[in-house]
Parts: sequence; C-alpha cells; structure tokens
Amino acid sequence: QSSVLHKFKGVIFSTMSSEELLNSLDSFEAREDDVFLVSYPKSGTHWIAKVIENIPNARITLTPPIELGDISKFEELKTYCERRVIPTHLSYSMLPMNVKQKQCKIIYIIRNPKDIAVSFFHYYKDNPNLPSIETWHEFFELFLKGDVVYGSWFDHVLSWEEHKNVKNILIISYEEMKKDPSKNIKKIATFLGLNMTDSEINQIVWKTSFTEMKNNTAKENCDPNHTICALTSNRNLVFRKGAVGDWINYFTSKQKRVFDELFTEKMNEKQTPYEKVSCVRDN
Ligand code: A3P
Repeated sequence: QSSVLHKFKGVIFSTMSSEELLNSLDSFEAREDDVFLVSYPKSGTHWIAKVIENIPNARITLTPPIELGDISKFEELKTYCERRVIPTHLSYSMLPMNVKQKQCKIIYIIRNPKDIAVSFFHYYKDNPNLPSIETWHEFFELFLKGDVVYGSWFDHVLSWEEHKNVKNILIISYEEMKKDPSKNIKKIATFLGLNMTDSEINQIVWKTSFTEMKNNTAKENCDPNHTICALTSNRNLVFRKGAVGDWINYFTSKQKRVFDELFTEKMNEKQTPYEKVSCVRDN
C-alpha cells in the first residue's frame, strides 16, 4: 500500500478522504430533498452528473463528493441553499445513517465491470493521486481481489443490489444510457420530480454526449467546485474512450474465463438490472 492510500474498515480509500471524515459520516445531517449520486468509480458518474446539472429549472446544486476532504466537509455542505446533488463512491453500508432514515433519493449507476476494470486501469496509470501501476495484468489481479480504491466491485454492487427495489433508489445503467440516452434522461428527471419537453431532453442528449463533454474539459477544469470524484478534480483524466465493450481489447481469454467464473459465483442469483451488465453473456 502506498502513501496516497489508507484502509478504512477493510476498504482502500484515497488519503484525500480523511480517516476522521470517514469515521464521522453518520453525523452528516441529510436534508429530505438531498439527492445522492452513487457509483463505483469509472461507472459514468461525470456523465450522469452533467445530465442532472443540465435539467432546466431544476434548482439544484452539484456539491463535491461527501467523502472528499476532512471533517470540515459537513460544514461546507451546509452552505448550499439549493437542493443538493451529492456524488459519492461509498457502498450502501457506509452511506450516512441519516440519508437512509430520511429516504433521500439515490441514483445508483452501474456499468459492465469488465469495462470498469479497463477504465480504472487507465485511471490508475494517469492519476497522480493513485499508486503507479505497470501492466494491465497487474491491475487485473488487484481488481479481482478488490485491492483497489473503494474495494471490490462485487461488494459495492451487491451492497446496493439488496436495496434495488426501494422506491427512493433509481438504478441507471451506463450501457442503457448509451443505447437510449433520451429515455434514461427522462427517467432521471421524472425520478427527481422534474418535467422536461422533448426538445429540452434532446438538448441534454447533445450537451452530454461524450465528444461534447470531452471537448469542454479545458473550460470546466478551471472550476474547482466541479469536483465530482474524490480521486481527482482534473477532468482531463476522466474522458478517455466513452465506449461499451472496450474490455475486449485488454482481457486475455484466460482473464475473461476467470472473471466470468467469479461473476457467476458472486452474482448468480441476481436479477435485473444486473443482468444488463452481465459480462457472462455479452461479447
Ligand atoms: P472510459 O475510461 O471507458 O472511457 P466516472 O465519471 O465514473 O469516473 O467514469 C468515467 C468513465 O465514463 C470513462 O470511461 C469516461 O470516458 C466515461 N464517460 C464520461 N463521460 C461520458 C459520456 N458523456 N458518454 C459516455 N461515456 C462517458
């Protein structure tokens, strides 16, 4: 383990999330209209955040991640007057108690874990806030074991899977978003109690396309308030390929077999929407 990481309750975190803050999460005071944008890293958080930010007349403010920084974060979060959209990569069990008690709305983003692994590998390589990694093979082993920031993808997804039928939780899949952005943008707006016309939806589809977002990174990088992931505020590291199925260019056939076996073992009993990310049947 390197100096940029530390372990908290058995899970690896960046040192940018202080132990004191992680220890105090339950003292966070949630508001009833808070929205949590939750995901395992590299699932498409910046994308969905951008969608939400672009909903007209939504009267919301996107805040920095709840787990980024030190204990002063809770005071900072109090200063927002509008409805808060709070991003986080925390698992269900670590999410502040108050958020569950008040049944705050939660959007959970899922993505094919094989694509996540590849995306995460590049992120580890490029991000100075993460330990250096040499090869894909090396990273693949760490990912399988859950020895990466925010722990095992399986544990994360399964912690949320248990609660997927709760009405205040909306699950959005990266792959579905790619396939039919309008439909999913509408779903998000409706979930938040907001109405949009078809032309407003089309506007958002355009503004949040991969190309458009990638081209705008330079501009948005200047705004330090735009930190969405607790692992970096440098948006240049975020927009890489934005594709479904890039894993095929990295996984060896043996790695695919090993991963599929683990997927079946861990996720076997699980129904929709996880079958959408089922890497066992795709390719
Ligand atoms: P890749 O590395 O596969 O390209 P997060 O925002 O949770 O950190 O996830 C980052 C991943 O989402 C990256 O995946 C990034 O390219 C992709 N992404 C970001 N914006 C996107 C968009 N508008 N459309 C599609 N993918 C997007």
